[in-house]
Amino acid sequence: MKKIQLDITKAAQFLNAETLAAYEPQVKAAQEALEKGTCPGNDFLGWLHLPSSVTSEFIAELNATAQVLRDNCEVVVVAGIGGSYLGARTVIEALSNSFQWLLNDKKNPVILFAGNNIGEDYLSEMCAYLSGKKFGVINISKSGTTTETALAFRLLKKQCEEQRGKDMARKVIVVVTDAKKGAARTTADKEGYKSFIIPDNVGGRFSVLTPVGLLPIAVAGFDIAQLVAGAADMEKATASDVPFLENPSAVYAACRNALYADGKKIEILVNFQPKLHYLNEWWKQLFGESEGKDHKGIFPAAVDFTTDLHSMGQWIQDGERTIFETVISIEQPNNTLLFPSDEENLDGLNFLAGKRIDEVNKMAELGTQLAHVDGGVPNIRLSVPVLNEYYLGQIIYFFEKACGISGNLLDVNTFNQPGVEAYKKNMFALLNKPGYEKESEAIRARLKK
Ligand code: PA5
Repeated sequence: MKKIQLDITKAAQFLNAETLAAYEPQVKAAQEALEKGTCPGNDFLGWLHLPSSVTSEFIAELNATAQVLRDNCEVVVVAGIGGSYLGARTVIEALSNSFQWLLNDKKNPVILFAGNNIGEDYLSEMCAYLSGKKFGVINISKSGTTTETALAFRLLKKQCEEQRGKDMARKVIVVVTDAKKGAARTTADKEGYKSFIIPDNVGGRFSVLTPVGLLPIAVAGFDIAQLVAGAADMEKATASDVPFLENPSAVYAACRNALYADGKKIEILVNFQPKLHYLNEWWKQLFGESEGKDHKGIFPAAVDFTTDLHSMGQWIQDGERTIFETVISIEQPNNTLLFPSDEENLDGLNFLAGKRIDEVNKMAELGTQLAHVDGGVPNIRLSVPVLNEYYLGQIIYFFEKACGISGNLLDVNTFNQPGVEAYKKNMFALLNKPGYEKESEAIRARLKK
């Protein structure tokens, strides 16, 4: 099996050779701290050897539950936010037909996502769409108390029970949560829902290879065994006994930190395939929530090219030189489409006749890389043979491992997210949540000023 390939030459040319080489001992130490569990946040390292520890029996159990949902639902709503949603959406959108929504193929349920916002229009339009449909729900929350998800789940549970009856609802509602704690666990136990456990030592944004990601991906009809196999191969390729220059996660972590130290404060993840939009979102969360701490951290931004070349392209080419790009390049599309010849050639495009659309895309990609490098933007490239479960598994683990190493290099606790609590505290105080009386009083006094 081929591997995804990392190429840092167009980034390294912006650094002097010694700078990058100097990272080797630091990266080794950062990786060792991760592998030996001596780094901050070491009670959340369960993801490190997750791919190699997923058993075929567990995959079979997940597939069996997925089949119950597939057999009984035309629509499945995945309720979750942040790490409890982005990984599943990344894989499902990368592998689904771009027009899955409109296909009505009857083979696969339509997958919807909820619980990741508090938009009243979004939720009411979703409830209206579900009205009269045979739908099921996967409720995903590690804490089991996240407001966005709990709010959506209450609506979905009620509608599912009313539409499908309590017995069927019990069959088509599945919960992925903590083994013991949280309201989602209490509800699952009380209602007798099938449930899967999110291991204590795996944080949300590192949880796509647990049932958090695997169950929805299986329900959507994709091969989770291959996803895990790809991740397991990348686990081997990035293990501590692999020499620094052969370990793509270590080299990527070193390169981005060297660029950061050189004033490149923003990393832009780039794709040239619209199906990878949610990989951008997942990656932004992985690095943003892991590294943005103690007033430090590369700001993770993302664009979809060529679409965004017509919006952000100007800024990237000519704006402040504080950015670098990491480009995900898919070598072979899954479809073939040739550009047709036209006798009249009114659009002047006959020079493209007979070429694959992807050849045009690849020249756009190469042209963009040359232009951006000329414009002073270091370019890292991750080349992926083809978009399938196996290589997505490799990509996921490659970035997770790089993030773990990179966070240690930056000297932050990669695995916590204390900053996320600030808005929640204010929101609960403003909504008069029981237990927040003191905060409520203080915030109202502050708003009166
Ligand atoms: O990475 C994280 O830990 C977070 O993004 C969580 O996944 C997110 O806040 C959702 O939390 P929960 O699964 O507890 O509902």
